[in-house]
Amino acid sequence: MVGPGASGAMIAMDSEDEAHKELDALVENISRILEHEDEKLYSREVVEEFRNPQNIGRMADADGSGVADGLCGDTMEFYVKIKSDRIETCMFYTDGCGATIASGSRLSRFVTGMDLEAAMTVKPNDLVSLLSGLPPDHEHCASLAVIALRNALRDYYKRAGIERKDAE
Ligand code: FES
Repeated sequence: MVGPGASGAMIAMDSEDEAHKELDALVENISRILEHEDEKLYSREVVEEFRNPQNIGRMADADGSGVADGLCGDTMEFYVKIKSDRIETCMFYTDGCGATIASGSRLSRFVTGMDLEAAMTVKPNDLVSLLSGLPPDHEHCASLAVIALRNALRDYYKRAGIERKDAE
């Protein structure tokens, strides 16, 4: 004969198990919805760049480094290594949103190997196009990346004692 205690314990175990399963299903469902929302809000390029960011981190032996502060409170750092007037390698670091990570990653890939003066003329809109668009309230994330890169290049020019007139 099964006593009420034993039966109660069994029921408690079952419902705990069920609750876990329900919770797992809920979490999975929410992630699926969020992923779907991301894909609706952001282009495939942004989502892929964000999921697999390149050149992320701080560079200890950079030839130039720069920071940009966004009005949103986020920041971006850019680091460049220069060889023969070209960006040999670069890295970025940010505490910003996913669009900022995607912007830093795409920009770093775009300017690697680029002539310094050409890199100085890259505009936020160029980066937005490379990312196949950003939602209007996230376009400033691209500006943050471009400004940080320009500041890193200016730092390189300064360290190298090269005087140049900025074409804004
Ligand atoms: Fe602030 Fe993207 S940089 S929201």
